[in-house]
Parts: sequence; structure tokens; C-alpha cells
Amino acid sequence: MDAITLLKADHKSVEKQFRAFESTTDRAKATRSSAARTAVRELATHTALEEQIFYPAVELEVPELGAELLRSLEAHHVVKWLCAELQSSSPDDDRFAAKMSLLIDNVRLHVEEEEADVFPFVREALGRRRLVEIGELVEKARPLAPTHPHPRAPDTPPVNALTGVVAGAFDMVRDMGQRLVGHLTP
Ligand SMILES: [Fe+2]
Ligand SMILES: [Fe+2]
Repeated sequence: MDAITLLKADHKSVEKQFRAFESTTDRAKATRSSAARTAVRELATHTALEEQIFYPAVELEVPELGAELLRSLEAHHVVKWLCAELQSSSPDDDRFAAKMSLLIDNVRLHVEEEEADVFPFVREALGRRRLVEIGELVEKARPLAPTHPHPRAPDTPPVNALTGVVAGAFDMVRDMGQRLVGHLTP
């Protein structure tokens, strides 16, 4: 599948979590917490895949989109901080719903800009075959991409290609818990 189709599918999937969140009141704590957790996880992976694979390819092959890419990185930066704060908060906190609503606004604006100001020009410039190649890279990297927000990690190559993998490995260890850590310790 081509990279833009894959990234748009990610956008849709995150939007689904946002709608699930918005369709509840603050009494539906379990639903709200699960929608927020899923959205945060999906956004961590999606932003990393764009930063490590898609944006660098665009920067190299469609240099006239440089300003849009810088704006995208800044949008990701804000999103990651909000995600990091949401991750350590819960629907019991006074500010949880406010933070989530700010995250939703920021992501929707960024997705709108990406789909209107970046994707069509990239599709035009790169063509289907190249986009399928980049899409294959995106899918190969997906299992290694972070599943938690890392707002302090570098977001541009070449360093991010390495830290992304390290962060992904770190997240996997974290997700699997102490059992795996014990197993890996000689
Ligand atoms: Fe993005
Ligand atoms: Fe995106």
C-alpha cells in the first residue's frame, strides 16, 4: 500500500478514538480512559513513522515543502507533550477532559493541514511507485516504532532514526513489564 494511504488510515483510526471519547460524558470513565490511551499510543507510533520515514523522504524529494514540514514537526511536538501529560493522568483528574479536548483540536488541525497542504503535493511529485516503496518502509518500521510519547527525543534525522528504534525497544520492554526485563538480565 502507498505511504499516503497508510498514513491517512492512521488519521482515521485516531479520529475514531476521538469520536468515542467525545460521544461520552465524564461519567464514562472507563471508555474515556481507554479511548485516550489508544489515541495516545496510536499517535506515538504515527508521529514517529512520519518523522523517521515519510518526512525525511519528502524533505529530500520535495524540498519546496520545507516550511510545511517544519510546521508539522512543531505540531507533533505540541501533540507529544499533551500525550505525555495525558498518559500520566486519568479521567479522575480535573484537567483530563480539558487536556484531551486540546489534544483533539491540535491533532484535527494538523491532520487537516497535512492532508491538504502536504499529501497532495507529495503524491503529485513522487508518484505511486515511489509512494508504495515508502509505504513498505513504513510498514516494516511500524513494529519497532514507539508506543508511548517521547517529547524530548530528537524528531529529525539522522539521530531520530536511531532513537526511534531505541525508544521502540524501550517501550516494548516497558509494555511487557518486569517479567521480560528479568528474562533479559543475565
Ligand atoms: Fe503529522
Ligand atoms: Fe499524519
